[in-house]
Amino acid sequence: MSIADLDKKNGILAIVFQEVGKSTAKLGTLVEGDSLADVVGPLGTPTHIEKYGNCVCVGGGIGIAPIHPVAKALKEVGNQVTSIIGARNKELLIMEDESRAACDNLIISTDDGSYGFHGFVTQVLAGILEKGEKVDFIFSVGPVLMMRALARVTLPYKVRTIISLNPIMVDGTGMCGACRVTVGNQTKFACVDGPDFDAHLVDFEELLKRQRMYLKEEKVAMDNFISRMDQSAHHHQSHKPS
Ligand code: FES
Repeated sequence: MSIADLDKKNGILAIVFQEVGKSTAKLGTLVEGDSLADVVGPLGTPTHIEKYGNCVCVGGGIGIAPIHPVAKALKEVGNQVTSIIGARNKELLIMEDESRAACDNLIISTDDGSYGFHGFVTQVLAGILEKGEKVDFIFSVGPVLMMRALARVTLPYKVRTIISLNPIMVDGTGMCGACRVTVGNQTKFACVDGPDFDAHLVDFEELLKRQRMYLKEEKVAMDNFISRMDQSAHHHQSHKPS
């Protein structure tokens, strides 16, 4: 789940989310006019924006949403912005038009080749760097495995690479410690110190392990949610006049 866009004039905050567990599935049941009890924010440290020169924003899957406002902001201060967005297949690719409008050059990739470059966003980025194109700053969000691969691609080129991490968060205000990550051998809380960190300093193995910490509980919560939804669907059906 991520903030995808902000329309200050009309007071609209766009959020993009993928239904992967109970809370997001529940969010998916909302219809126009429904509301959430609370939305808290802004939290954490804002993405640092400055004029770097040539910037590349790399978004994988749902990570396309959070790179969007960053690409926009980088462009606004005069950077040349290339965005690379990718998904498993064409159906899962989001925000193509918005992404194109926000940058100077948009490159699309899909894992299965159903649209754009056949392969991973990290391969597209590797191609750009191998060609010797001047890249001054890279910002990326995506699955942890993708960001780990990306960090490995950019390290030999010593390009400043910032990634936005999404470890499990509970309070989002630095109190519970659930979101702790190790960056440059130091413990950081992604919700207050981040979510942006230097990709070359992140302990990805620990991050992967911690993200899988509640897989069992997440599955139980999802199964319960689905069976409750099924029950209420049957309940409604049986009360329908025939
Ligand atoms: S989410 Fe609790 S400390 Fe970051």
